[in-house]
Amino acid sequence: MKNPLMPFLTIAVLGIILVFGLSVYGVTQQAAGDGEGESTPATPEEIYAQACASCHGQNLEGASGPALQAIGSKYSADEIKGIVQEPPSQMMPPNLVQGEELDALAEWLGEQQ
Ligand code: HEC
Repeated sequence: MKNPLMPFLTIAVLGIILVFGLSVYGVTQQAAGDGEGESTPATPEEIYAQACASCHGQNLEGASGPALQAIGSKYSADEIKGIVQEPPSQMMPPNLVQGEELDALAEWLGEQQ
């Protein structure tokens, strides 16, 4: 015999999926609102300004942390990634940036020579 609850469960599950789907859609639409279409990923400069500039200066000139203006001639992008994940000392917090944003940030810093 069929379980009489099944249709209700199916509808409930579909409803939940719909609600989540719509809210994700809404967030994506909002993110796309500032012009560059699709979901706009932050530029490395924006990520740097948010996560690093307070200690390394708006223009990489250094502040409480060392200057990063020529960091690309000292470290490769991969090494910079490693530094963000495991900083040289406790004066710099670990994992301020992660994932794709870290890839983009490290690549950009690696170009600062
Ligand atoms: C709370 C302050 C602070 C923040 C935020 C911070 N740093 Fe640092 N960073 C430091 C300090 C202090 C050092 C030097 C640590 C040492 O040598 O012991 C350092 C060192 C470094 C170094 C090594 C520099 C060298 O010449 O060896 C790199 C690269 C670096 N930071 C990148 C970053 C990046 C990228 C971010 C953003 C994701 C960031 N830091 C955020 C404080 C900070």
